[in-house]
Amino acid sequence: MNGLISSPRTGKGQDMDAERIAVYPGTFDPVTNGHCDIINRGLKIFDRLIVAVAVNGSKTPLFSVEERLYMLTESLKEMPNVKVDSFNTLLVDYAAARGAQTILRGLRAVSDFEYEFQMALMNRKLNKNIQTVFLMTGMRWIFISSSIIKEASQFGGDTQKLVPPVVYEKLKERFGHGPVAS
Ligand code: COA
Repeated sequence: MNGLISSPRTGKGQDMDAERIAVYPGTFDPVTNGHCDIINRGLKIFDRLIVAVAVNGSKTPLFSVEERLYMLTESLKEMPNVKVDSFNTLLVDYAAARGAQTILRGLRAVSDFEYEFQMALMNRKLNKNIQTVFLMTGMRWIFISSSIIKEASQFGGDTQKLVPPVVYEKLKERFGHGPVAS
C-alpha cells in the first residue's frame, strides 16, 4: 500500500489521510428533519459535508434558491463542518471542483432505490473517481418528503415535529395559517 487513493479531480494518487469531503445534494424544497438526520449521520463518516442545493432541477420549487439556502443555513448552524452552497452544473463536476470524493444520498424506502441506483450509475459513468454512499434515514423520518410536508402545510396540517423551526415558520408564512388543533 502506498497510502494513495485516486483523486476525483485528476484521477492521480492522493494522500489517504486527506480530508474526507462529501457533497449531499438535493432540491431541499424545503429541508426536513429527514435531511438533517442524514447530514448528522454523514458527519460521523466524513470530515466535512457540503450540502448543495440544485438550482436547475426538474422540479418547480415552492421556495427560491435564496430561501432554501437560508433555511438550510439556519437549520444546520449548530452542526460543525457543514457548508451550505448551491450549484448549477453537473453534480459530479461540482463535487470534483469542491475536492469531494463522495456524493452522499439518503435512502428511505425500497421505492427510492431504482431512481437512486440509476443516478449513482450515471454519476459513476460521468466521473469514475467519485463514489456514491447511501445512508438509511432514521425510522422516524421514513415517510417524509418535501412534497408531503408542503401538501400537509398547505391544508393546515401540523408539520412542526417534522421540519426544523425555521422551516415551520416559513411554511406558516407562506400558507398563511398555523397548524389545525388536534
Ligand atoms: N428525508 C426526507 N426526505 C428525503 C430524504 C430524507 N432523508 N431524502 C430524500 N428525500 C426526499 C426529498 O425531500 C425529495 O422529496 P420531493 O420529491 O417531495 O421534493 C425526494 O426525496 C428526492 O429529492 P432530493 O433528495 O432532494 O433529490 P432530488 O431528486 O430533488 O435531487 C439531484 C436530485 C439534484 C441530486 C439531481 O437532480 C442532480 O444531481 N442534479 C444536478 C444535475 C446532474 O448532475 N444531473 C445528472 C445526475 S445523474
